[in-house]
Amino acid sequence: MSHTSSPGSAGGFGSSQSRPRKNEEHTHLLTTATTAVSVKQVTKQFGDFTAVKDLDIEIRDGEFFSMLGPSGSGKTTVLRMIAGFEPVTSGSIELHGTDVTNDAPFDREVNTVFQDYALFPHLTIAENVAYGLKVRKVPKAERDKLVMESLEQVQLTQVAHRRPSQLSGGQRQRIALARALILRPRVLLLDEPLGALDKQLREQMQVELKQIQREVGITFIFVTHDQEEALTLSDRVAVFNNGKIEQVGSPREVYEFPQTEFVAKFLGTTNLLPADLSGDLLGESCVHSVRPERVHLIDPTAPVENGTVALSGTIAEAVYAGPNTKYLVDTDRGVRIIAEKHNSHTPSTAASVQRGDRVNVSFRFDHATPIPGSAGDASARTAA
Ligand SMILES: Nc1ncnc2c1ncn2[C@@H]1O[C@H](COP(=O)(O)OP(=O)(O)OP(=O)(O)O)[C@@H](O)[C@H]1O
Ligand SMILES: [Mg+2]
Repeated sequence: MSHTSSPGSAGGFGSSQSRPRKNEEHTHLLTTATTAVSVKQVTKQFGDFTAVKDLDIEIRDGEFFSMLGPSGSGKTTVLRMIAGFEPVTSGSIELHGTDVTNDAPFDREVNTVFQDYALFPHLTIAENVAYGLKVRKVPKAERDKLVMESLEQVQLTQVAHRRPSQLSGGQRQRIALARALILRPRVLLLDEPLGALDKQLREQMQVELKQIQREVGITFIFVTHDQEEALTLSDRVAVFNNGKIEQVGSPREVYEFPQTEFVAKFLGTTNLLPADLSGDLLGESCVHSVRPERVHLIDPTAPVENGTVALSGTIAEAVYAGPNTKYLVDTDRGVRIIAEKHNSHTPSTAASVQRGDRVNVSFRFDHATPIPGSAGDASARTAA
């Protein structure tokens, strides 16, 4: 890509600072920093309120790293501290091995796509996208070419001459993305960059984003509260709750092997088997998580297969949702289990299992994941 010929991609958006790219790479090689961003024991207080507590994160060079969590869990605050817009209360932040805790935003090799886009209202779309290149004194001809390429990437060449107020929210969001990507920063911070897009465009942009990230090798730190988006896009996901990370891991690790009840529940739907039931069924008295797609409905008279457990119950609800159907089963042990079945083999004209039918729910032993340290909570809940 011709982007590599543009001058230094360092610095925050709109900064006039530009370090020579060659030296930068040289230093980079010498220090062989494979860590792009290190957040070390960072705490952020707003008055008495602790928004982020003793946070440690290591983000690898070239990684697509997502911060996932509910509203107010501290995701934006962490991003703002990495970018330098928010000072840390304690702890330190390193970028590519250099401590930047006290550096101004424009002295950091990061670029941010903000949750509220922050486009310049008085500039056209093309000028908005070109702004960073102009500041870096990229010649006009090359600038125009890069702007058109970048607008093509987000499918908005037709609005190049409009102003931000003449675009929809989703279009503005894509422009904000184009404006940040055109600078090819080493680290790109993205705060819910697809939040305003409708489902179809969002999925399309997810694929685009992933492709761009792979092509140019930029480290992405991506904030979202959409679990599916985090799972689909990321190399690793950090699950936030109340200003802390509950778990970091690959999408598969955090989804299949949640380490806390919060993570199990936040990443989609799950069945939490109480400790006493787990003890009886699985021989380990702590809460276990079993994903609905791992649970199968079987004929109550069918023999129980080796390596599986079966619980008898009654279908309380069958919820048809197109590609799959969700069955809520009230088991005779008093625990409601959700089973999700892909409709690949069910008749398309009628339901195969209905409300009130007696069934066995069954799952494999190894599809029940123990939630460490939850035995206390669970027995309390079962007793309640
Ligand atoms: N400038 C501020 N002053 C006081 N409290 C703040 C400030 N900024 C953020 N907070 C508080 O810190 C907590 C974390 O906020 P943050 O914006 O990081 O959440 P978030 O995870 O990004 O949420 P969302 O998904 O809604 O964007 C919230 O309780 C918020 O009210
Ligand atoms: Mg936020």
